Amino acid sequence: MNLVVVSNRVARANTNEPMTGGLAAALLPVVENSGAIWVGSSGRVRDGFQKEPLAEIEALGAGALAMLDLPAAHYGGYYEGFANSALWPALHSRSDLIRVTEGDYLSYREVNAFMARALLRFNKREAAFWVQDYHFLALGAELRELGVTAPVGFFLHTPWPAPCVIEGVPQHRELIEAMLGYDLIGFQTEADRDNFLGYVKTNLELAVHDDSVMSQYGRTRAAVFPIGIDAEKFSQQAAKATTHPDVLRLRRSLNGERLAIGVDRLDYSKGLVNRIRAFDRMWTANSHLARTVSLLQIATPSRGGIEAYCQLQNDVARLITDVNGRHGEVDWTPIRYLNKGFGQAVLAGLYRTAQVGVVTPLHDGMNLVAKEYVAAQNPSDPGVLVLSKFAGAANELDAALLVNPHDIDGMARALATALAMPLSERRMRHETMMERLRSHSIQQWFADFVEALRDSHSERTEASPRAAESPTLRPVRSLHSAARFH
Ligand code: F6P
Repeated sequence: MNLVVVSNRVARANTNEPMTGGLAAALLPVVENSGAIWVGSSGRVRDGFQKEPLAEIEALGAGALAMLDLPAAHYGGYYEGFANSALWPALHSRSDLIRVTEGDYLSYREVNAFMARALLRFNKREAAFWVQDYHFLALGAELRELGVTAPVGFFLHTPWPAPCVIEGVPQHRELIEAMLGYDLIGFQTEADRDNFLGYVKTNLELAVHDDSVMSQYGRTRAAVFPIGIDAEKFSQQAAKATTHPDVLRLRRSLNGERLAIGVDRLDYSKGLVNRIRAFDRMWTANSHLARTVSLLQIATPSRGGIEAYCQLQNDVARLITDVNGRHGEVDWTPIRYLNKGFGQAVLAGLYRTAQVGVVTPLHDGMNLVAKEYVAAQNPSDPGVLVLSKFAGAANELDAALLVNPHDIDGMARALATALAMPLSERRMRHETMMERLRSHSIQQWFADFVEALRDSHSERTEASPRAAESPTLRPVRSLHSAARFH
């Protein structure tokens, strides 16, 4: 199988550049080793209609990285528009933040169609395509319309919401019908898969048997593949990172004080405001923790052109100023707040330095920071993970202190419990979580998905031989096709 991995954001080899988000960082080592071709955005845009979309290709381990300049006229509507102002809030069950225009949707479909055309050059013998994330929900259908009969799989890194929430996106039906162009759709959790299949049954009125559904494209299977990390490698990286200058400076500055750490993209799904309120409550209720415990909150700015993100940036900054103003002393800052990104190697050392890892999203597909925090700990004196029960990671890391991120008092109590936890209990919880991380590595996740894609594709072509010969049974892009502009 010649695997082609597709995502909006890609990562370059041999770089310790800060990376916004888990997907690119998580995929880099496995794609590198697999010999796959990884196709994504170059981060640049290009004017005019490109018949043969230009790809800048460079070596990536045993495979290659191909980066495309996306169409300038559609980039804004695609990325900041439909993907991140309509789909992202809907997928994270924030219906109140959904902002959608027909123009943004058309741009999203244009970029999906553009990517499909670009992928044709890789559609050779034994090719298989694996599409990542919500930026490309419709890419499977676009590829089928271009006559691609190869296996095409999709993995969603975010949650999938209840049917009534996704219905908040006006084009939900057309989009989800287009998703059925994939042979296999992977989700992080069972709840996500069940929500998706619930929609397919109720809204599309299609029968679901053994998590598979038959549509105009043939059979599509929906399955659960919780993404993992390379826990051993991350542990080693963390142990080594203790000599990194940033880590040494942090350690020196602590002066015996204990540290809690939060590392997030600056995103409303991450629950930053509630987290800061919980620390505020903790210091108010436990005066002995003032001056002896501080929070290092790294919040990497992202999607700054979207109003909800600007608003959040202001809210978080104002709240931190307020909390520091009330609890701080001339020689003590309760919350150290950094608006920038760090490379994986430094982060590993920062996690190892902190006695508490705070991962409290309101809703999150998986949250690899939770897994990385655990893997980074010193096994003989590990820190404690305080984890939102609404992160996908909570299904696996139930030996963490699980919290409801809407319950500020409950979170404040959990933080105090974490700080008081005896060594024996910390070790026991840590070892339980490490076992899980070791047995569900990112390498295993990658291999499981690829094998399931191969199987789903064979089942699909056996169940519906027409799907293999003539994939385009009926165009699904009625609105889109009518208004296509080049
Ligand atoms: O959660 C899914 C994900 O793809 C993450 O990997 C990443 O944090 C985010 O969404 C995408 O972020 P960006 O818009 O910065 O590419």
